[in-house]
Amino acid sequence: LAAQKEDRALIVNEDLAYPIAIGHDLYGEIVAFARRAGSVVIVSDANEHVTRIARSIGRPLRARVVAFDLGERRKRLTTIERVLESLLEEGVDRRTTLVGVGGGVASDLFGLAAALYMRGIPYAHVATSLVSMVDAAIGGKTGVNLRGGKNLAGVFSDPRAVFCDASALKTLPVRSLREGLAEIVKAAILAGEEFFTRLERLAEEPFARWPWERVIAEAVRVKTAIVADDRLELGRRELLNLGHTFAHAFERASSYRIAHGAAVALGLRAAGLLALRLGRFDKTSHARVVALIRSLGLPLRTTIPVEVILNAMAADKKKRDGRLRFVLPNAIGDVEFGVECGRSDIVAALGRLRELPTASSPR
Ligand SMILES: NC(=O)c1ccc[n+]([C@@H]2O[C@H](COP(=O)([O-])OP(=O)(O)OC[C@H]3O[C@@H](n4cnc5c(N)ncnc54)[C@H](O)[C@@H]3O)[C@@H](O)[C@H]2O)c1
Repeated sequence: LAAQKEDRALIVNEDLAYPIAIGHDLYGEIVAFARRAGSVVIVSDANEHVTRIARSIGRPLRARVVAFDLGERRKRLTTIERVLESLLEEGVDRRTTLVGVGGGVASDLFGLAAALYMRGIPYAHVATSLVSMVDAAIGGKTGVNLRGGKNLAGVFSDPRAVFCDASALKTLPVRSLREGLAEIVKAAILAGEEFFTRLERLAEEPFARWPWERVIAEAVRVKTAIVADDRLELGRRELLNLGHTFAHAFERASSYRIAHGAAVALGLRAAGLLALRLGRFDKTSHARVVALIRSLGLPLRTTIPVEVILNAMAADKKKRDGRLRFVLPNAIGDVEFGVECGRSDIVAALGRLRELPTASSPR
C-alpha cells in the first residue's frame, strides 16, 4: 500500500492515519495486509455475494469466516453481543485483527464489536457496498441503532485499513448502488462545481460505464479531508450530515422501510428547500441538485405526514439545548452547519416534499 498505483487507481489516503485502498480485485492487497497483521478472524455479512468475497480472502489465509445475518433492523446491541460471543468461541485474543466484510451495516457493527471486544482489538474493513466505500467505512464512526433512533449508541474508533474493491459493485443490487450515489451527490455538493458537474455528466451514462474507482476516490477524498480536521465531530465534520437530520427522521418514521441512501436523497431535497425558504440558497442550484437526484433514479417525494417526520426528528442526536440544527447549502461548494430555524420553516419545507417537483416549479 506504500505507493500510489495510478493504473489500478489504488490510492493511499493522506488525510487520515490509516490507508484506504480503492481499486478492482484487491484480494492480493487485502491478503498481504492480513499477513502483516498476523492472526486474523474474518466476520462477514451473511449475504451470499458478500460471504463469497469473505471466503476468497479467508482461503489463502486459512482464516475462518464467521457470517452474521445483518440488515438495518439487526444493527442492534443484541447483534453486537452475538458477534462478541462468537469471537470468544473462535478463541480470538487481543492480538487478533478483526477483518469485517460487508456494507455500511457491517462496518458500523463489526467496527463497534472490535472496539468493545476485550476493550478493543485492531479492525480492518473490506467495503462491499457503495455506501460503505464512500461513507460508512471511512472516518471511524461505529454504532448501532436504539429503539429511539439511528446510530444512537457507538464509539469513534479508527480502523487499521479500509479496502474499497469496486469489483464488488457488480453484484450489488441497483437499489443499493443508488443509495451510495445519494452520499456521492452529498459529497459533490460539499466539494463544489468540478465534482458536481462531473456527476451531472456521468448521470447520463449507464452505471456499467462509470469509472467507479475514480468516483469513489473523489467522494472519499471529500470525506477524509473534512474528517481529518475534526475527527470527533466537534464542529466542521457536521458538514457531512448535509441532508441527514431529515434523512434519519425519514428512516425512523418509515420504520426503516425507506433505506438510508433513499432517505439521504430526500433529505438533500429537504435541506435545499429549507435553505431556499430561508433565502440562503438559489433556485438554479437547487433545481440542479433536484435534477441530479432524479436522473440517478433516487426518490424526491415522500407522503409521510409532516407531523410524523417532526416527531421522528425530535430524537436527533445533533440537537443542542433542545433545538434542531441543520446543515444547509448556500451554494454548490458552500455548505454551512449549525443553522437553527423556526418550526414553521421546517414544516413548510417538509410540506413541499409531499409533491414531486414539476417542470414549472422544479423545486
Ligand atoms: N458510520 C458512518 O459514518 C456511516 C455513514 C453512512 C452510512 N452509515 C450506515 O450504513 C448503513 C447503510 O449501509 P449499506 O447501504 O451498505 O447497507 P447494508 O450494509 O445493509 O448493505 C445493503 C445491502 O446490500 C447487500 N450487499 C452488500 N454488499 C453487497 C455486494 N457486493 N453484492 C450484493 N449485495 C451486497 C447487503 O447484504 C444488504 O442487503 C446504515 O446503517 C447507515 O447508518 C454509516
